[in-house]
Amino acid sequence: MIENQGKPGQKIVTIFDDIYNLPDCRSYYRAMSHAGFRTAHYATTGFRTILTELKRLRGLNAVSVVDFASGYGIAAALMRHDVSLDDVLGRYVDPWFDDAATEAVIAADKDWLSGFRRAGDTDTYCGVDIADQALAYGGATGIFDTFFADNLQDDPPSAGLKTVLNDCDLVVECGSVAHMLPRAFDRLLDATGRRPWVATSPIRGNDSAEAFDLLKRFDYRVEVYDAQPFRHRRFAEADEQARAIVNAQARGHDTDGYESEGYFHAQIYLARPEEEATPISDWRPGS
Ligand SMILES: C[S@@+](CC[C@H](N)C(=O)[O-])C[C@H]1O[C@@H](n2cnc3c(N)ncnc32)[C@H](O)[C@@H]1O
Repeated sequence: MIENQGKPGQKIVTIFDDIYNLPDCRSYYRAMSHAGFRTAHYATTGFRTILTELKRLRGLNAVSVVDFASGYGIAAALMRHDVSLDDVLGRYVDPWFDDAATEAVIAADKDWLSGFRRAGDTDTYCGVDIADQALAYGGATGIFDTFFADNLQDDPPSAGLKTVLNDCDLVVECGSVAHMLPRAFDRLLDATGRRPWVATSPIRGNDSAEAFDLLKRFDYRVEVYDAQPFRHRRFAEADEQARAIVNAQARGHDTDGYESEGYFHAQIYLARPEEEATPISDWRPGS
């Protein structure tokens, strides 16, 4: 989804810029469905297992989760509700969504999601993005408890976001942006107070050395959570595929059977304090 043609300093270019910040999510999810978007499914399956282990290890009943570059909140939505990515993407196919007013979409989505809130959900979710309207949608539908339209790439966090980051135990990021915005990632981590675990799911090729160096500077152990890469979305065109293959290979990935098959691929990386690095293979799957 995110492309910078392998140049970390280059402006992030996406083919979805015009739908990242609308008053509701329907155009975004219709486009994602069309593009064969899968990352949110695989990433949040991993994030839920990571959350379960984090709670066990730290003895927490309730975790403050920050969904960085959250957009409309698909990561938070799938983590805290018993709905699948297919449920979400399939929902907006209904022709009712063609002409419904934004207020009606928000009311319907809030009602729909509330029926699927996971039993015993005591965690809190905060969305962070530059897309203020997308965040407001996430807040109004109950996906986020709090949200902040801070651009950490340009500025330090606002007082409100600082308070949330100070109490945060888990940062998740689904969609690749964190690895492309090291300055923002740096400011975010710098404001945290509880050494949160950080789970990201960059596209192969966007898994930038800057981001890994940064995580190591914060004394995190960084591991691939699941060695098997998963599909992110279909390539829009042959040029995009060719660039993705070059970028992924430049990061040391074997692209045969992966990007060669017509899809961007991604992987989850988990960063944790060394003393909390329990073997991932021993964990219980997330509830
Ligand atoms: C690929 S989308 C992913 C959105 C969401 N996580 C998902 O999977 O649907 C990238 C997101 O990064 C956000 N973004 C771009 N620059 C940002 C920045 N400086 N700080 C925070 N978010 C940013 C965009 O607004 C957009 O919502």
